[in-house]
Amino acid sequence: MPFEGGSVGILGIESLIYGVDDIAECSRFFEDFGLAVKRRSDSCTSFELDEGSTVVLRSIDDPLLPASSLVGTGVREVVWGVDSAENLQALAAELQRDRTLKRDSDGTVHFLTDCGLPFALRTFAKRRVVSAPDPLNAPGTVNRLNRPRRWRTRARPKVINHVVFNVLDPQASFAFVRDRLNFRATDFQAGFGIYSSCDGALQHHNIFFANANLPFPGFDGRPRFNHANFGVEDIDEIMLGANHMERCGWPKSVFGLGRHRIDSALFFYLPCPTGGEAEYGADGDYIDDSWVPRNWTNPLFGYLTFVHNMPHFFADPPSWEFEYHADFTPPRKAHRT
Ligand SMILES: [Fe+2]
Repeated sequence: MPFEGGSVGILGIESLIYGVDDIAECSRFFEDFGLAVKRRSDSCTSFELDEGSTVVLRSIDDPLLPASSLVGTGVREVVWGVDSAENLQALAAELQRDRTLKRDSDGTVHFLTDCGLPFALRTFAKRRVVSAPDPLNAPGTVNRLNRPRRWRTRARPKVINHVVFNVLDPQASFAFVRDRLNFRATDFQAGFGIYSSCDGALQHHNIFFANANLPFPGFDGRPRFNHANFGVEDIDEIMLGANHMERCGWPKSVFGLGRHRIDSALFFYLPCPTGGEAEYGADGDYIDDSWVPRNWTNPLFGYLTFVHNMPHFFADPPSWEFEYHADFTPPRKAHRT
């Protein structure tokens, strides 16, 4: 477990800083979504999750938001949480070779990536989150005997799993986080983008660089926030959250419940008044350095295992195509004769 000890570097997303049109409306959305308000003022609402990460809502016109290549509302800065002040200083010193850093009095370091994404580094006293999902019963496998599943009333996201940006050059955007922040590639989705995770995280991805020129709604060839994923315990918690959001009158999900094949995760995307979407996620793959990234040569095969409201591209079953990524695949040994 990388973040259980030792010096590892970046633990995951410490804060997502949104720039929005209507703070009150967006605050109501995230409260209904299940986040706990930490602080509220006329110019800002912040929420805190169980792991200690935060979601911060500011006006899109707020001068505290950094200028960047991003257009539109949504996440306008990602603060990455670093495990120690020493590692933060080492990362900052390396970044300072070729870019301007802005330092806050609390030690936070702000900078732009090579493609103009607004990032920051901050020390992160990440709290360990402990879950106890109900065991699954299946024919012939009795994991819950005389024991009903728990009944919940609300979804309460506990962690920020990942953030997604539409970018002009996913390979270049990924190369920056690989070379300068020690991220690793975890999967390659042909034509769609690259999944990447921090060196101190176990999530399949903490960021996905999506091709801004994809022919789908929400993509317009410009760098934009796409969505953020908030982790809950299991499918029940996802759907309780989804039902509650519908009762509160928020717009319905286009896809409904589904499961990605690429990281095995259950998903439920909701249109979000911040711009982009907010995603409930559960049961994704956790990985470490022994993971072998794949090339999803049929990107739509990787995208979905199942989905409730089938999009047109899923009307016919996708062809089963993928390969292990050549850069990470041990060369085949010659046959002994
Ligand atoms: Fe996602």
